[in-house]
Amino acid sequence: SFLEMEVEQINKGKYEHYMQKEIHEQPESLTTTMRGRLKRGGSTKAKTVLLGGLKDHIKSIRRSRRIVFIGCGTSYNAALAARPIIEELSGVPVTMEIASDLVDRQGPIYREDTAVFVSQSGETADTLLALEYALENGALCVGITNTVGSAIARNTHCGIHINAGCEIGVASTKAYTSQIVVMAMLALAIGDDAISSQARREAIIDGLFDLPNKVREVLKLDQEMKELAKLLIAEQSLLVFGRGYNFATALEGALKVKEVSLMHSEGMLAGEMKHGPLALVDENLPIIVIATRDACFSKQQSVIQQLHARKGRLIVVCSKGDAAAVCPGGSSSCRVIEVPQVEDCLQPVVNIIPLQLLAYHLTVLRGYNVDQPRNLAKSVTTQ
Ligand code: G6P
Repeated sequence: SFLEMEVEQINKGKYEHYMQKEIHEQPESLTTTMRGRLKRGGSTKAKTVLLGGLKDHIKSIRRSRRIVFIGCGTSYNAALAARPIIEELSGVPVTMEIASDLVDRQGPIYREDTAVFVSQSGETADTLLALEYALENGALCVGITNTVGSAIARNTHCGIHINAGCEIGVASTKAYTSQIVVMAMLALAIGDDAISSQARREAIIDGLFDLPNKVREVLKLDQEMKELAKLLIAEQSLLVFGRGYNFATALEGALKVKEVSLMHSEGMLAGEMKHGPLALVDENLPIIVIATRDACFSKQQSVIQQLHARKGRLIVVCSKGDAAAVCPGGSSSCRVIEVPQVEDCLQPVVNIIPLQLLAYHLTVLRGYNVDQPRNLAKSVTTQ
């Protein structure tokens, strides 16, 4: 009806689609996610993290023998992005489970485990079944959801709300970045406060405070990503290579592209390139490589060189000022997307944004419904 159309227009404000609105509101949604949870006192006061919903359980999580992350789709990818920093700061081994696969295998879950359920809606059937299973096996169950009062929020022992605000586009965007930020705060909360890790912890907290500004900066790539989308509009397939903190960026970037633009896309671990994917490389297939500065940078440089040697059509996401360092034989050999550099464990929040923009523009240019992709639902409440 006319009224419904009006209401929708008001909700979308100046944007044409919810996905577009939700991508662009990430500086604000991330600010809300962190509000009241990060403390940066005077020069003498230590920087700390407060997660109210976990406060009686922090010690048990820290003492658990293992942390198991469980989720589906984008929520799984967010947990994968946070895994390295949780391992680094807590020293607790972290394993990853796709919810349906854990249930299919009836994989081992123990009383000494902390099982963390990540779900935007808090209602995903596969994740809920995995939760029931973990509860039966006696694990401490933690929920990370965007929906107060959802089944996962109610049925876990404790949890954290991501407070990203209502997400309407079927493809998750702002919830993904807020999930990563919440899990980075979880890492800070369960990590011990040893002197040896103090500088690292403070750098992460400073990085969190500055993250909305960096996200605002990276959103300026909108037009550049639209131009790239125009070049890729008729492609059959798109590969995305990442590693370390940004293996998740590769999976999530490819998931965004395939779910909304209906173009085949695969995210791949760059370390596995030689073990199969390299056979696909020719002068036609477009390949995105995530090569921002972190401990894996030189390995990514050599991946780029190997792809270039096979005449790969390269699109490289790199840190600002690194175009020459990532393009073998000069900038004509590849297309470069420069993003602001942040603390390594927060870099996935920045790096996913150009790929969200690319997926959005590809979809609109190809004439598909970006907010309600064919065959998909926002919340999959059946098995
Ligand atoms: C569906 C949605 C995805 C989402 C996944 C998990 O497949 O289309 O965007 O990532 O469910 O949803 P959840 O609400 O559990 O995060």
